Amino acid sequence: MKKYKVFADKNVQVGKMEETMFSSFIEHLGRAVYGGIYLPGHPTADEDGFRNDVADELRKLNLSLVRYPGGNFVSGYFWEDGIGPKENRPTKKEEAWKSIETNEVGVDEFMKWTKKVGTKTMMAVNLGTGTTENARNLVEYCNASDDSKYANLRRKYGGKEPYGITYWGLGNEMDGDWQIGHLPADKYVIKAREAARKMREVDPSIKFIACGSSSIDMATFPEWDLTVLDGLYDDVDYLSIHQYFFQSTTEDDFYASYLAMDKYIDTFRGALTYLQTKHRHKKPLYLCFDEYNVWYNIGEMPDDYVKAPPILQENQSMKDTLVFGGLLNALINNCDVVKIACLAQLVNVIAPIMTKDDGGILLNGIWYPYFNYCTCMRGNAIKSIVLGGDQFDSRFGKAYYISQGIVLAGDELVIQVVNYAKESAEVEFILKDFGEMEKISHLVMEHENLDARNTFDHPDTLIPKEAKDQVSIDGETVKIRLNKSSWNLLRLRLK
Ligand code: AHR
Ligand code: AHR
Repeated sequence: MKKYKVFADKNVQVGKMEETMFSSFIEHLGRAVYGGIYLPGHPTADEDGFRNDVADELRKLNLSLVRYPGGNFVSGYFWEDGIGPKENRPTKKEEAWKSIETNEVGVDEFMKWTKKVGTKTMMAVNLGTGTTENARNLVEYCNASDDSKYANLRRKYGGKEPYGITYWGLGNEMDGDWQIGHLPADKYVIKAREAARKMREVDPSIKFIACGSSSIDMATFPEWDLTVLDGLYDDVDYLSIHQYFFQSTTEDDFYASYLAMDKYIDTFRGALTYLQTKHRHKKPLYLCFDEYNVWYNIGEMPDDYVKAPPILQENQSMKDTLVFGGLLNALINNCDVVKIACLAQLVNVIAPIMTKDDGGILLNGIWYPYFNYCTCMRGNAIKSIVLGGDQFDSRFGKAYYISQGIVLAGDELVIQVVNYAKESAEVEFILKDFGEMEKISHLVMEHENLDARNTFDHPDTLIPKEAKDQVSIDGETVKIRLNKSSWNLLRLRLK
């Protein structure tokens, strides 16, 4: 059995977990929109064609923002194709995912949907094939209340009241050569700056997110980010960063994903500090981690363009679920600089929820850590330090076999801890200034077969269970026994 000591002091906090840390992402990609959130004729579809079985599940997460409409998709998307009477909307070949886009769902439908599920939109604009004028017009359409052309169009097609969208992404992954309209950093700065200034002219209250690196492995990381932040310092509020973790690496590297994510964010912490000093701290800048997940299954790309191809339908395993828990820990442990975090994505596409067109929904393994993160971990993140214990080598450096995240949520202290080792572990949490406490629950997810997954036939293969007798509390020392290869959530009530 491996042994660890972890120290945490109530007075030493990472920061507040902003509400926007509990956000996600829906792209016009695969079956995320068509078949995922929207399927007229489905037995649970509402009067607007939105699936209520999916919406019911999502409402439980109380998501702050859902990023829309992409992703790679946005870089070839003309939002005006998606407004007005549906019968007049064009059906187009969509180049990013080689799919047919019918434009049945556009801005107005998506805004309706976000209302139904109790969330808000984070809107991305097309800085690939789109002009800065197109981007500006979308702000007028969504947010203007004057007698302008696009505000009047919205009144005609969408709603009387402005949508009041606060968060705007200036393009998507513009550092990537796969991106439609990919640009070198200095050219991106010029285009994004022009877009932001025009958009802000329409609505001075909006906040901007600039494209940062799309992964640790980009040759341009972190130079791209420095150039972009330097050039756009006066114009933006957040830098968007992305990272997916792939099983195709070694098992150890995969388990060390939490460390990779931690170091990735730490590089940006350094970059933000540097840029703020350079610009004499005129304003704070933060990170918007608007795509993160485990991902390796592209699925079969159809030979020809089809509507809603079943691609990127990740069905995460127990091993993926362990790694995913570590990613959430990395977000918790870095919430001083990460202020927005969007799980990529929400339905059918690298998602915690899968649907059948002629059936119901399936909750994948990662649903459970994500559900508990969204429902139990709204509060202040507490800094925690592993005081020592076994480590393994990874390409990101030495990693502990455990990863942990601690949040003080009201009168609850919530500890998420993952054990990656193939043997059990005992973790002693040495807590300071929390006072007396008692256990509320200890949830465990584990499976003999790390490749096990939930399926429509066996949806409960990966599901948390309440553990018995694995926690002991002595004053402010909490000992927990972690089963081998397990995800754990310990909730303690402070007295
Ligand atoms: O464990 C979380 C539960 O799992 C949620 O209440 C429900 O959405 C799902 O069945
Ligand atoms: O989420 C899937 C894709 O991953 C997005 O479209 C893109 O931004 C990223 O490369």
